[in-house]
Amino acid sequence: MQIFLDTANIEEIKEIASIGILDGVTTNPSLIAKENRDFKATIKEICDIVKGPVSAEVIATDFEGMIKEAQELASISEYVVVKIPFTYEGLKATSYLFKKNIPVNMTLIFSPNQAVLACKAGARYISPFVGRLDDIGHEGIELARQCQDIIDTYGYDTEVIAASIRHTEHVLKVLEYGIDIATLPHKVVLQMMKHPLTDIGIEKFLSDWKKFNK
Ligand code: G3P
Repeated sequence: MQIFLDTANIEEIKEIASIGILDGVTTNPSLIAKENRDFKATIKEICDIVKGPVSAEVIATDFEGMIKEAQELASISEYVVVKIPFTYEGLKATSYLFKKNIPVNMTLIFSPNQAVLACKAGARYISPFVGRLDDIGHEGIELARQCQDIIDTYGYDTEVIAASIRHTEHVLKVLEYGIDIATLPHKVVLQMMKHPLTDIGIEKFLSDWKKFNK
């Protein structure tokens, strides 16, 4: 499983990258807005830190606007992956960008039907939103599993990014289902490291060592 960080916060990205476990970053307009900094400069800085795929989302909703923004975003760094929302226009734009060798992450995927169309349009990544489906009473992780099955069955050259991940239970399911990538909030990465028995074990080793070294 590849670990992406779902944030536009430079400090969070630097911290997780410094541990040596970071494969990529995803951002979206809400995450960018939260940082209140220049969009393109932020994406450039993230790319320079991560040196791996960094998703940056278009704001336009029409084909021409999406293409224009996508080309501008792609010129920021070789690591930029253009994030395009799943719409009729977005699908056309993805198809066009595929032919221009600009990698696309199709986002806001909420059904297997959308997923297969995104794969056929040439999306490099698809992002099923797990937590937001949970929010409305569905089993969101099942969608991510279905997306992975579609790709494995038909051999599309697309990877699944399980997105809108809210807790470590989601990560366990991503692992169980063999999903390619999970994009995680910073706090979920930290939660993955925690186990009370590890803390208790360290305490015991250290107290035994102190007794022995009196
Ligand atoms: O990658 C998509 C993600 O940022 C959405 O997460 O928590 O806003 O549903 P959330």
